[in-house]
Amino acid sequence: MSHVFHRHTRSEYPVADRGEGIHIVDTTGKRYIDASGGAAVSCLGHGHPRIVEAVREQVGRLEFAHTGFFTNRPMEALADRLIASAPAGLDRVYFVSGGSEAVEAAIKMARQYFLEIGQPSRTRLIARRQSYHGNTLGALATGGNMWRREPFDPLLMDVSHISPCYAYRGRREDETEAEYGLRMAEELDVEIRRLGPENVAAFFAEPVVGATLGAVPATEGYFRRIREICDEHGVLLILDEVMCGMGRTGSLFACEQEGISPDIAVIAKGLGAGYQPIGAVLVSGRIYDAFRAGSGFFQHGHTYMGHPVACAAALAVQRVIEEDDLLEAVRTRGARLRSLLEERFGNHHHVGDIRGRGLFLGLELVADRASKEPFAPELALNVRVKREAMDRGLMCYPMGGTIDGRRGDHVLLAPPFIVEDADLEVITARLGEAVDAAIAGAIT
Ligand SMILES: Cc1ncc(COP(=O)(O)O)c(C=O)c1O
Repeated sequence: MSHVFHRHTRSEYPVADRGEGIHIVDTTGKRYIDASGGAAVSCLGHGHPRIVEAVREQVGRLEFAHTGFFTNRPMEALADRLIASAPAGLDRVYFVSGGSEAVEAAIKMARQYFLEIGQPSRTRLIARRQSYHGNTLGALATGGNMWRREPFDPLLMDVSHISPCYAYRGRREDETEAEYGLRMAEELDVEIRRLGPENVAAFFAEPVVGATLGAVPATEGYFRRIREICDEHGVLLILDEVMCGMGRTGSLFACEQEGISPDIAVIAKGLGAGYQPIGAVLVSGRIYDAFRAGSGFFQHGHTYMGHPVACAAALAVQRVIEEDDLLEAVRTRGARLRSLLEERFGNHHHVGDIRGRGLFLGLELVADRASKEPFAPELALNVRVKREAMDRGLMCYPMGGTIDGRRGDHVLLAPPFIVEDADLEVITARLGEAVDAAIAGAIT
C-alpha cells in the first residue's frame, strides 16, 4: 500500500523506473514514448548525459548557498545567457522553483512596481478566460479556467477575465482572422476603461495557450494591438511563457513570433527540462530601475530561489539547445509532425481543429465537425484518450473543458526537441489508435 497522496486517489499509476531519450520505462519494462514531455517539460528527453553531468558537477561543488547571503556562479551565468537572448528591454532575472512561483512573483512585482513609482491605486489584474497560470492562489485567481477555480473561488482575489483569442470557436463568418483578433484585443481596452486605467496594474496572457486550450496561438496582430493598449494605459504586459517558452514553439521565446516584448515574462518547464525544478521571472530594466531607485528591494523571496544545482541544470539545457541547433530541429520536426497529424486526422470525423506552433501542437476533438458540437463532458473523452494512449506506450496530454472549463476535449503534444522523424510516425500512429479506441469506447 502506498502512503503517497497521489493526484488521483483512485488511480493506479505505473512506476517510472528510468528515462532513455524520448522514452520513460516503467518497472515492468514497458516503454512509453514521452510525446508530451510530461506537461511540456522534458524538452531534451530523459537521461541526457550533458545535463546529468552538469548536475553531478554542481552538486559536488556547491549544493546550496542561501541567496540572502550569496549569489552563485550558475545563477549569474544563466541570467546572463537568458538576457542575451531575451526580447528587447528585458534585463533582469528573478529565479524561483517552478511556474506557479514565477507567476506569484510576477504578480507581486507588478504591484510593488506601482508602489515604487507612486501609483498605489494600480492593484487590478486582467487575464483571459481559458488560460492557465498555475495552482497557487494568486496564479489560480489569475487563470481563467472555471473548473480549476471553482472549489477555491471564495479564496481567490478578484481578477477580470476577457475572452481568449481562439479563432476556431470565436471567429465570426463575416470577419477575417485578423479582424477577429483585433475585436478580441479591444476587450482589453474596454475592461481597462471600465476599471479605470489608474486602477489597473497588469494584463496576463500566454502567447500560445497550453494546458487549458490545447496549443492555441493568437491570430496575427492580436498581441501587437494588446501591446499598444497596455502602453496607452500604462498597464504592464506580463506574458506567461511557462509552457510555450524556451524553444517549444520554434523560437526561444514564443512572443518573438508576435513581434512584441513584454514588461515581464515568466518561464519554467523547458527552462530546466525536468532535470531540476526551476522557474524565472524576466523583468524589464525600467521595472528593475524603479525598485533600485525606490525601496531597493523586492518584498518577496523563497528559500530555494536561485538554487545553484537548478541553475546549473538549466544552464546546461540552454547550452545544449544552442550547440545542437535544437530550435531549428523544433521548427523542422514540428512541421513534420503537423503534416503527419494532418494526414492522419485532417479528415477525421471527430477532429475539429489541428493547431499550434513548433513542437507544441493540439487536436480539438468534437462530436460533430460541421457544428463543432463537443462530446458530452460525462463521457470524459480526454481521460479515455490518455488511458488508451498509455496502454499503447504513448504519453500525450489530453484535457477537458476546452470551451468553457466544462465542455470540449483536446489533446496536446509536446515531444522532446531531440525526437526523430521515425518517432513522429510512431507517435502519430499510436495517437490515432488511441483516439479511435477512446471514441469507440465513449459512444458505444
Ligand atoms: C502557462 C502556465 N503557467 C503556469 C503554470 C504553472 O507551473 P507549475 O506547474 O510549474 O507551477 C503552468 C503549468 O502547467 C502553465 O502551463
